[in-house]
Amino acid sequence: MDSYTDGYFSPNEDVTRVAHCKTMEEYKEIYGESINDPDKFWGNYAKNFYFKTFPDKNLFDYNFDIRKGDVYIKFAEDAITNISYNCLDLKVENGLGDVVAFYWEGNDPLDCTSITYKQLLDEVCKFSNVLKSLGVKKEDKVAIYMPMILELVVAMLACARIGAVHSIVFGGFSAESLCNRILDASCDVIITADGMYRGTKLVKLKNIASEAVKLCSEANHKVTTCITVKHVTAKSFSDEETKRPSMRPCLDLQLSWNKDVDRWWHDLMANASTTCEPEWMKSEDTLFILYTSGSTGKPKGILHHITGYMLWASATHKYTFDYHPGDVYFCTADIGWITGHTYVTYGPLLNGATSVIFEGVPYFPDQSRLWAIVDKYQVSKFYTAPTAIRSLMKHGEEPVKKYKRTSLQVLGTVGEPINPEAWLWYRNVIGNGKCSIVDTFWQTETGGHVLTPLPGCTPTKPGSATFPFFGIVPSVLSDEGKEITSSDEGYLVFNKPWPGMMRTIHGDHKRFEGTYFTRFPGYYVPGDGCIRDKDGLFWITGRIDDMINVSGHLLSTAEVESSLITHHLVSEAAVVGRPDPIKGECLYCFVTLLDGVEFTPGIVIELKGKVREHIGGFSIPDYIQSAPALPKTRSGKIMRRVLRNVARDNHDLGDISTMADESVIGVLFANRVG
Ligand code: WTA
Repeated sequence: MDSYTDGYFSPNEDVTRVAHCKTMEEYKEIYGESINDPDKFWGNYAKNFYFKTFPDKNLFDYNFDIRKGDVYIKFAEDAITNISYNCLDLKVENGLGDVVAFYWEGNDPLDCTSITYKQLLDEVCKFSNVLKSLGVKKEDKVAIYMPMILELVVAMLACARIGAVHSIVFGGFSAESLCNRILDASCDVIITADGMYRGTKLVKLKNIASEAVKLCSEANHKVTTCITVKHVTAKSFSDEETKRPSMRPCLDLQLSWNKDVDRWWHDLMANASTTCEPEWMKSEDTLFILYTSGSTGKPKGILHHITGYMLWASATHKYTFDYHPGDVYFCTADIGWITGHTYVTYGPLLNGATSVIFEGVPYFPDQSRLWAIVDKYQVSKFYTAPTAIRSLMKHGEEPVKKYKRTSLQVLGTVGEPINPEAWLWYRNVIGNGKCSIVDTFWQTETGGHVLTPLPGCTPTKPGSATFPFFGIVPSVLSDEGKEITSSDEGYLVFNKPWPGMMRTIHGDHKRFEGTYFTRFPGYYVPGDGCIRDKDGLFWITGRIDDMINVSGHLLSTAEVESSLITHHLVSEAAVVGRPDPIKGECLYCFVTLLDGVEFTPGIVIELKGKVREHIGGFSIPDYIQSAPALPKTRSGKIMRRVLRNVARDNHDLGDISTMADESVIGVLFANRVG
């Protein structure tokens, strides 16, 4: 058990007994080595993997200081390896061939299967050969738009095996968003599935993918092949089972099918060989592109490269979850986001772990689903988002208490700041008061955890991501770029690279430098506010740019605004975040219609439809209000600060002396919604 003194939860003794890192002294020692002698630290860690060659010194080559020239980051440049080999072949060679790599739990509780390391290797080799037979080569970009099914893992590892670059697009994005991502990365091949169920809702993924392919061809880009996994129409079930609303098979999908482009996954796989020599890749070859929202509205294609990402994914998974052989690990994130890349696929496989991969949603068939899964597979390490915890809290303890959850040891959270109430509920109710809580701060850009407690080692305070992971040097800077030593809020920054950080933005290195390296030359600036308390613990306070974190998904206000103004009756739009008890923040939109047009509930529905069409269903705004005029400075800049106050119904507006026309304020408050 742990104990609570002076605002701290002490490390849990049961976890400490087996932990990789047992005391803060030990943490400080390992941390010190990782900073003072990174060559030794990472050189040693690399011994867990197979490299054809690995340099023995000068692993890092970088420039973080824009004043001295272009920013670049290279790690172990001369190393040669293959990440799919390290995830699979090496595990089979080490005797883990019959160990379960994934328990797959379908949307419906009766729909489940599992796959061992050896079976996964065979599938990956087969699909690698399929990709090759379609002409996919090293460095080609492949788009993946799939549900949480095993074929998604197979597809990404097959790309990695042959040196192709995967660009996974979350299944909640619209055809237009998918098309933009295919165009940006110039993908010729896309992999999808016929459909997926989310609870009782059927999403016709293939038809959305077909629409995206059509939009691409209108933009003069030809997608040559679309490979579709037969998923919702795949298996046959008993009569009883097919009566259930969520159960496969689904018979009336009406797939849009173009015989010049479309191929079934199972047809292509039927005769593919299970042998495929990996493509031996250089360290700094690209492993994947993953798009994340950018403050200009255009998503940024973040690039991760092979060796650095591989070591980072493995090391953070091992230490942050205190992973040991025999654990069953379950991360609820979708592979379409970075958490799924690093902590569903790569980290666990690189460590030879057994994981649960879950297709469904926490509330189907009822609010106990996650705990039913935990008991079914005896999950010991569990990782989810604060928004999921808060929405479960709303339903009280009863759905949780229906299951024992005694196998749980470590509970992780990620995606947004976690409020102390949710942290305590996670620990006391979900974890039966017996688990270590790890609040992990990181980003698509960082590749893996950068601030996090270590279970069994770090004393924790609810709401703080505590201390840096090995190799990370954080500071907090003031507006003027001075290091803040008091407990005042400032900008979180990092003064040197770590192996797993991004290398650039696809096709736009200037934007990479401009976004992350110009605000404070010499530092990587992630865009989050931060406080370092008197004991040295880090507390993330939220975004300091125009991004809004809705249920752990970063959305760009500019992107939502540009979707709204595509409506023919809208002349101007501004979007701000408003605190939300479940989502953390939600979107609150101000819309100015053309002169003389009446603001009606019908227009609100159409505007939500515009956001769904341009971005995707997960980004639909909660509130849209009429704004006959927006508050602006005399130079015409929208005063978002004032809009945020209106959205929160906070009349204390502070200094508004720069506002051009103060009379708009009264109208904005009068038109508030929600
Ligand atoms: C936020 C998700 C506070 C933060 C892995 C960051 C967090 C953004 C935490 C990245 C946390 C993530 N505490 N804030 N533990 N984890 N964030 O790229 O604002 O989808 O910059 O990566 O989420 O979101 P992304």
